[in-house]
Amino acid sequence: MQIQNKISSPEECAARIHDISGHVIDPELAKDLWSKVLQHKWVLSEKIGRDVGIKVACIDLIENIVSIENASHDGNKIQQLKRMGAQMLDASAWDTISESQPPKQIVDKRIVLPITQAKLAKKHGVSPPRTIVFFGPPGTGKTHFARAIAARLQWWYIEVSPSDLMIDGEDRMGMKLKHLFEVTMNLDEVVIFIDEFEEIAGSRDNASRKEKSITNEFLKQVPQFRREKRKNLLVCATNYIRQLDAALMRPGRFDCIIPVGDLDQKSRSIIFKHFLANTNQGDVDVAEIVSRLSNFTPADIEFLFQKVSHFAFEKEYNEGKDFRITTDVFLEMIPNCQASLTEENIRELEEDSVRFTRY
Ligand SMILES: Nc1ncnc2c1ncn2[C@@H]1O[C@H](COP(=O)(O)OP(=O)(O)OP(=O)(O)O)[C@@H](O)[C@H]1O
Ligand SMILES: [Mg+2]
Repeated sequence: MQIQNKISSPEECAARIHDISGHVIDPELAKDLWSKVLQHKWVLSEKIGRDVGIKVACIDLIENIVSIENASHDGNKIQQLKRMGAQMLDASAWDTISESQPPKQIVDKRIVLPITQAKLAKKHGVSPPRTIVFFGPPGTGKTHFARAIAARLQWWYIEVSPSDLMIDGEDRMGMKLKHLFEVTMNLDEVVIFIDEFEEIAGSRDNASRKEKSITNEFLKQVPQFRREKRKNLLVCATNYIRQLDAALMRPGRFDCIIPVGDLDQKSRSIIFKHFLANTNQGDVDVAEIVSRLSNFTPADIEFLFQKVSHFAFEKEYNEGKDFRITTDVFLEMIPNCQASLTEENIRELEEDSVRFTRY
């Protein structure tokens, strides 16, 4: 009996479950289910004080504890998610965003709370948002926000860029987009993130026939996506909100349109400390350094750390003794790192914020 239970390949597990219960299930699921059967056999035997056969345990588990339909349904979904490159992200991504970073409070109150407090939201007729756009200059944290939402909710995160949709040629991009929506619409607890959004939802004025058809496809898919009452979010990001098609900006397609831009000192400090934690640090005056980082985006801060870390690494390699990063190292490196935010793109972001923001 003991030897018979020692089956290990997924196919063997599926065959054994089929012999016992008559259910045909996917071998990948069968392996997991078989280990549950063995565990259940042990639990049942302990409960009633005698050795219960594997057949009894298998049937009891399937009939009374797990539903085969649900198990294979969930299993198929997980397979689907994995094929799409879905990731489950570490919840700490959320903590590196300061409360004072403007989109954080919007995201928290408008997006996360209605999802995590679903009962209360329903009581007050608040529908959780389904579709979101982040816009702002490069390197300001739009992708980071999308990842942080998925991390905060502990939902799957799937990232799609226009080049992924173009993989079978530009002609098939519309079809790929349609397929992406069809698949996503049936998934729960997923954040689907589309980067460089202007490339698939650009203005149809002066666009080529192909570009127009892709934007049209997108415009068609979004309302259908919203109609399915699922627990999932479509998050799009663009550096060029002005280039998006006007029809997308009207209410009914995107629930929230959120600017991501300039940081205050507190937000920079938190990001700075986040990167500092991964270095061999000595005496570092964070406030002093951060006061010199005006117009630095999170991406610029990350670049500064790359330079500083590399400097420390080389120094220790050459001198053969522990080298700790201090304030002086940062002060020496900062002039070699340029801040990306210019007065012009800060002004543009302000104008765009007035014109497009909605939440
Ligand atoms: N609040 C934050 N805390 C820690 N790291 C951050 C934060 N915001 C952004 N970053 C980091 O800064 C870098 C740039 O951010 P991100 O890629 O999200 O910018 P982006 O706005 O999406 O840029 P692009 O427009 O070029 O796509 C990333 O490595 C990201 O992890
Ligand atoms: Mg990005």
